[in-house]
Order: sequence, then C-alpha cells, then structure tokens
Amino acid sequence: MSKIISGTEFSAKLRAEIKRKVSKLKQDHSIVPGLAVVLVGEDPASQIYVRNKGVQTKEAGMNSYEHKLADDTSEKDLLDLIDQINRDNSVHGILVQLPLPKHINEHAVINSIAVEKDVDGFHLSNVGLLATGSNEGIVPCTPLGSIMMLKDHLGDLSGKKAIVVGRSNIVGKPMAALLLKESCTVTIAHSRTKNLKEECRQADILVAAVGRPEMIKGDWIKPGATIIDVGINRIEKEEGGTKLVGDVEFSSANEVAEAMTPVPGGVGPMTIACLLHNALQQACRINNVDVPD
Ligand SMILES: NC(=O)c1ccc[n+]([C@@H]2O[C@H](COP(=O)([O-])OP(=O)(O)OC[C@H]3O[C@@H](n4cnc5c(N)ncnc54)[C@H](OP(=O)(O)O)[C@@H]3O)[C@@H](O)[C@H]2O)c1
Repeated sequence: MSKIISGTEFSAKLRAEIKRKVSKLKQDHSIVPGLAVVLVGEDPASQIYVRNKGVQTKEAGMNSYEHKLADDTSEKDLLDLIDQINRDNSVHGILVQLPLPKHINEHAVINSIAVEKDVDGFHLSNVGLLATGSNEGIVPCTPLGSIMMLKDHLGDLSGKKAIVVGRSNIVGKPMAALLLKESCTVTIAHSRTKNLKEECRQADILVAAVGRPEMIKGDWIKPGATIIDVGINRIEKEEGGTKLVGDVEFSSANEVAEAMTPVPGGVGPMTIACLLHNALQQACRINNVDVPD
C-alpha cells in the first residue's frame, strides 16, 4: 500500500501559515491583501468555486471582492471592469473565473489583467517568466500546489525522471516547467504520445492531468514511483449516484506506487490554498515589503 499524500492536510497547514502571515503583514505594515474574483454567467460549478474562494479568502484574513456579471456581458464591459480593478490599490490579486462565455475572447481578458495582479499566473508575461526559470513571476495554482507536495514528500527532486501526462496551458505545461526548474528530466505526454504505458513506467514521478477517469492503471507505474493525480472526474457509481475519481486508477496504483495523492482530497484542496499564497506574495511585492516569516 502506498503512502497517501494528503492535500487536505497540507492545504490546511498552508492556509493556517498564510493566515498568520496576513495578520503579521497587517500588524507591521497596515496592509491587508485583497483578492477580486470576477464571474461571468451562471455556470453552477464556477459559482461553487467562486463561493469557496470567497469564504477561504476571508478566513485567511484577506479582503474578498466578488464581481458577478450577467452571461451576456460584452467583452468591452468586462475589459472596462478589469481596467478599473487593475487601478484599485486595495486589490492585489485578480482572478477571472474560466471558462468565459463563448462571445468573450479569453486570451484578451487574461492578458488585460495587470501582470503583478495575475494571481492565476496565466498572463503571457507570467507564463514567460516561468518558462525562463525566473522566480519573479506568478506560478499557476494547481501546478504550484502539486510541486509543493512533491518537494515536501521527496525533498530534492534533482535528477529524477518525471512524466507529465497532459499538456494544457493551465496544468500540464506549467507543471513540466516547474519539474524542469527542479532539475528533473521531464517527459510531456499527450493524446498523440506513442507507447504511453511504457513512457509512464520509466518515471520516478508521474503527474496525471488528462481528464480521463482512471486511465492510468497500476501496471503503467514504475514500482516505488510518486504519483500526483490532478484529474477530477465525476463518474456513475454501480450502486447509483456519482463519485469523483482521478486520472489514475487508485486501487491498482496504490499497490505499486510508493506514494500518491487521492481524489478527492489531493491536489484539489491545494489549488485555493495556492491562490491565497499567490495573493499574499503579490500584496507584499506590490507594496515592496518582504513576505512575513
Ligand atoms: N485539482 C484541481 O484543482 C484541478 C485544476 C485544473 C484541472 N483539474 C483537472 O485536471 C484534469 C486535466 O485538466 P486540464 O485543464 O489540463 O485538461 P485539458 O485542457 O482538457 O487537457 C487534457 C490533456 O490531456 C491530454 N489527453 C487527453 N486524452 C489523452 C489520452 N488518452 N492519452 C494521453 N493524453 C491525453 C490532452 O492531449 P492533447 O493536448 O493532445 O489533446 C491534453 O493535453 C481534468 O480532470 C481537470 O478537471 C484539476
């Protein structure tokens, strides 16, 4: 049986640490980090994410600002709102909940966010900073949470063989860049990769970000490997109802891997904690003060 890398426990510790630092920042510098979340439309999953983000932002002692816009909001009105928030000194982080309605150009919206307030790390400048190995940019939350758990579990990652299955801009590519920055030898796999099972079997670290329920089986995994399962898939249960599963088949992988993240309770809870981490970091950077110890 592999060790469980609990994102629930790790994120609770991280959020407690952030809360303590936010309180110190307020005490020492009278700065309260502010996070603005913009939601366009009424997608039920997005509404839940936005509500959770608001609750956890306030619990960390930060100011939370929610902007809920109608589904038919024009791109211009959205860009005008972002421009207004960009100039608001009480806001240090801006997150536009994705996906946006089809008539809005996501790329234009993301790149209209002030680079230093782009707490999702999706702005082209932050993407470029990560790709060039800089520490000056903002790292996307899900890969950031994943690399934090890996480093906490394994310590030095240098020289390890890592595979990232999935090459999306929000998970796969930034994850691969972070592993490379830690001096791993990185393979990025995707839907056109040949002999995927064999590629996976060579990896000391396997990160699955595919969106296909339980695709990666135990016999795809190198004995002793560490698994980070980013996938969140809702499937029907035999006895009725639904449940969440990852991209890795937990029952068989658990027999082979040395350690793995569960779904739910793995990478998922780390994502919002890392959003708070990024908001605190940017509040400090914007005000030119160190993040409190
Ligand atoms: N825990 C969290 O907070 C969090 C955050 C974000 C996403 N997620 C979850 O992570 C998963 C991935 O998300 P995403 O946004 O990165 O998804 P995405 O944009 O749909 O990308 C999926 C990637 O998987 C690859 N792929 C699809 N089928 C494959 C196959 N049969 N073999 C190999 N590769 C295959 C695709 O390859 P091509 O590029 O060739 O099409 C693509 O690169 C989803 O389950 C999502 O819900 C979780």
